[in-house]
Amino acid sequence: MLSFQEIEKIVEKSAKVVNHPSQPANLYAPIDYMLSIGGKRVRPILCLIIYNLYSNNLDRNVIFPAFALEVFHEFTLIHDDIMDKSDTRRGQPTVHKKWNDNVALLSGDVMFILSYKYLAECPSFCKSEVYDLFTKTAIEVCEGQQLDMDFENKSFITMDDYLGMISLKTAVLLACSAKMGAIMAGRPQKECNALYDYGYQLGMAFQITDDYLDTFGDEKVFGKKIGGDIANNKKTWLLVEAFKRADSAQKARLSEIMSIGLWQKETKIQQMQQLYVETGVKDAALSVIGDYYSKAMNALAPAGLNEEQTARLGFFAEKIIGREK
Ligand code: IPE
Ligand code: IPE
Ligand code: MG
Ligand code: MG
Ligand code: MG
Repeated sequence: MLSFQEIEKIVEKSAKVVNHPSQPANLYAPIDYMLSIGGKRVRPILCLIIYNLYSNNLDRNVIFPAFALEVFHEFTLIHDDIMDKSDTRRGQPTVHKKWNDNVALLSGDVMFILSYKYLAECPSFCKSEVYDLFTKTAIEVCEGQQLDMDFENKSFITMDDYLGMISLKTAVLLACSAKMGAIMAGRPQKECNALYDYGYQLGMAFQITDDYLDTFGDEKVFGKKIGGDIANNKKTWLLVEAFKRADSAQKARLSEIMSIGLWQKETKIQQMQQLYVETGVKDAALSVIGDYYSKAMNALAPAGLNEEQTARLGFFAEKIIGREK
């Protein structure tokens, strides 16, 4: 088994293989920019860690499909930043800010197409299975993104609505990443599905952590502007849980804060943060993230892993739930 750092290095190197014509610069430069400004590379790392539980042969036919997951993810980020009106990502200006919306749309489109180019390197014995899984997942992510946008305009959604939305926009891509590693390693269906479930539960934890950090993170470490979700009236885990816990006076305050306009953004963010602390939502978020960690580890039971393999996935899961960026 390779070390975690060795896998990280392989993924980082794969991000440098992208080469395209220099012109039109406004099409290609944003792609290079996105790939070069960092990012945690969670999805390809997860895919390769799982593949590497079974095989040390990390050839281009597994590295490139893993990289396809990253390229697809980054395409969704470029478009997401337009949709969420976000100016900063990874501590840098977002593509639509550095260039403009049209540039961001088209360079994002090319990244989506590129993801299939890298996926095509996948071993032929599992190509159709990998294609089906990747395509199904890509469509689900778009469904989740649409629900996320639809929910911005609702005054209330249920926790089930929220969980369904994040399962689509975020969890299924981590699940797909994990399962692709197992499929490319030629593992039986039952094991592939257990690893899908592990990735799925981790993905749920991942998005709730993202929601938490968007409100309570350290901007310099997180790399995104704190309070963006509050400003947009995003239906995050924090907001949905706050509605569940609030008494009638607090409910009225929640609605009032949500109606504060963007010209008083700082007040809006501050008041919401305070209410999240007051209602116990801040602490509860950390505890529910812990619950998803346990669900992820429990999901591994049918995968029949030995102690060393389980420890590796436990280490990865801890990194995901303990993240600050
Ligand atoms: C951000 O993803 C979008 C979510 C699904 C929460 P990441 O947190 O993986 O972003 P990068 O790639 O590391 O910047
Ligand atoms: C993004 O969710 C999920 C996808 C991009 C598919 P967010 O909108 O919460 O992600 P960030 O916080 O902008 O990274
Ligand atoms: Mg979004
Ligand atoms: Mg966003
Ligand atoms: Mg977010």
